[in-house]
Amino acid sequence: MTIATSTGAIAAAAPKLTVEHARKSFRQANGGDVAAIADLSFTVRAGEYVAIVGPTGAGKSVLLDCLLGLKTLDAGQILIDGRPVQNFVREKKGHITRIFQEDRLLPWLSATDNAAFGLQIQGVAEKDRRASAAKWLEAVGLSGFKEALPRELSGGMRQRVNIARAFAPNPELVLLDEAFSALDDVTATRLRQDFKTLAQAQSTTFLIVTHSIDEAIFLANRILVFGAPARLMAEIAVPPHAHEDRVLSDRIKDEVRTLIAAGARVH
Ligand SMILES: Nc1ncnc2c1ncn2[C@@H]1O[C@H](COP(=O)(O)OP(=O)(O)OP(=O)(O)O)[C@@H](O)[C@H]1O
Ligand SMILES: [Mg+2]
Repeated sequence: MTIATSTGAIAAAAPKLTVEHARKSFRQANGGDVAAIADLSFTVRAGEYVAIVGPTGAGKSVLLDCLLGLKTLDAGQILIDGRPVQNFVREKKGHITRIFQEDRLLPWLSATDNAAFGLQIQGVAEKDRRASAAKWLEAVGLSGFKEALPRELSGGMRQRVNIARAFAPNPELVLLDEAFSALDDVTATRLRQDFKTLAQAQSTTFLIVTHSIDEAIFLANRILVFGAPARLMAEIAVPPHAHEDRVLSDRIKDEVRTLIAAGARVH
């Protein structure tokens, strides 16, 4: 399928990810149940960049765990290319990748071996996976740090290794969970820009969980606003270049903030 960048072409693209009436609760220490996901339904089309924003505790990270096949729903379903996510995860190993806030690099492995990790899961031969990882480290600006250990790298550089690791396996779906929020503002801005440039050269689908509405406007073509527990409160289309239009981005920010406040849990 051709993934074009115009909004019209994306609208015509097939659904990549479908979440239908998803529900997930957890048993608490006091014996009660707390809902993390409550009747959540939405669709992401192939090639889309979709941001998820919502109050803390809204079940966003739980949803990503379910998308990775690490947790299962109590009810409802998650489909990738129209088939249950568990099948996709089993048959296409390592084709859903993630960039999280904590860098989760293996401390004893070099930047190259960390970046190659997803390729190892896919069974790619060592020589090929090191070559691919090296290519991606160059793409994220770490040519001079291929053999560095994570502790020798700054937080921003480690997150660059994570970006390389997420892209190296040629993923079909990339999940971001507060990927840039542990970084200082200048580093985060630069990394978001570099991430976007690299992402746009791939025909991949992106789901971006963030508390930064600016990040959502910068990276996404659509923002899903979740209430807590996770349910869809609103979908907001983000026109191309909205981040460069102060009036428009302020209007989107106000709308999203109002929705988030309305959707927060009452404690
Ligand atoms: N393993 C678990 N056991 C019990 N409760 C859990 C577990 N994991 C998540 N929860 C609960 O599920 C709810 C949603 O949590 P989750 O971490 O997904 O929220 P979130 O939207 O990612 O929040 P934040 O924006 O703060 O990252 C919370 O109420 C949390 O306490
Ligand atoms: Mg979270």
